[in-house]
Amino acid sequence: MTSTYSIRPEHAADNDTILALQQTAFGPGAAARAAFRVREQAPHDAALSFVLTEQDVILGSVRLTHVTIGPDAGLLLGPLVVDPAHKNNGCGRALVGRALAAAEAAGARFVILVGDAPYYRPLGFGHCVGRKVRLPGPVDPARLLAAEFEPGIAAQLSGMVRGFAAN
Ligand SMILES: CC(C)(COP(=O)(O)OP(=O)(O)OC[C@H]1O[C@@H](n2cnc3c(N)ncnc32)[C@H](O)[C@@H]1OP(=O)(O)O)[C@@H](O)C(=O)NCCC(=O)NCCS
Repeated sequence: MTSTYSIRPEHAADNDTILALQQTAFGPGAAARAAFRVREQAPHDAALSFVLTEQDVILGSVRLTHVTIGPDAGLLLGPLVVDPAHKNNGCGRALVGRALAAAEAAGARFVILVGDAPYYRPLGFGHCVGRKVRLPGPVDPARLLAAEFEPGIAAQLSGMVRGFAAN
């Protein structure tokens, strides 16, 4: 990522711009996706969500939402979105890195997401949890990935992913 980009925590006033970026990236069918259904159950945690900017223009976003999986609490990462005009500049990678660092600093035990393993595995999501973890909608189990801060937690995750408001 070049030094013209910077990353800062998300503010409430960023919401419309972020939703527009998501709409462009995912299209009108986004709300039907299983991970979006979890995020309808609880708001994302703005303190653990970030925007990427260049000269104060928002070009990317990543959000974290608190979830439980059975008895275990953690975080769901997403949506991750980068303005297509700024693709392949390391922005997505930098946003994921910032979100994971914030999650770890906040004491999270794990972060899960639904996404492409070839992209996310090198970013720390080395555990596929899709055989035992379920979402409120269909999802390819191979795309249900976890990063763990507590060694071994990914292997013990089992059950339905449910969003909850932390505060
Ligand atoms: C996916 C997305 C976030 C990547 O953002 P980005 O800033 O372009 O990504 P980065 O610059 O950090 O990484 C680019 C690298 O990842 C690779 N990559 C991008 N998407 C990939 C994918 N789905 N699977 C595998 N590799 C992928 C690129 O080919 C590139 O590889 P290179 O570094 O070897 O050239 C962005 O393209 C986007 O917003 N897409 C639409 C929304 C989306 O699909 N979000 C993810 C939901 S799971």
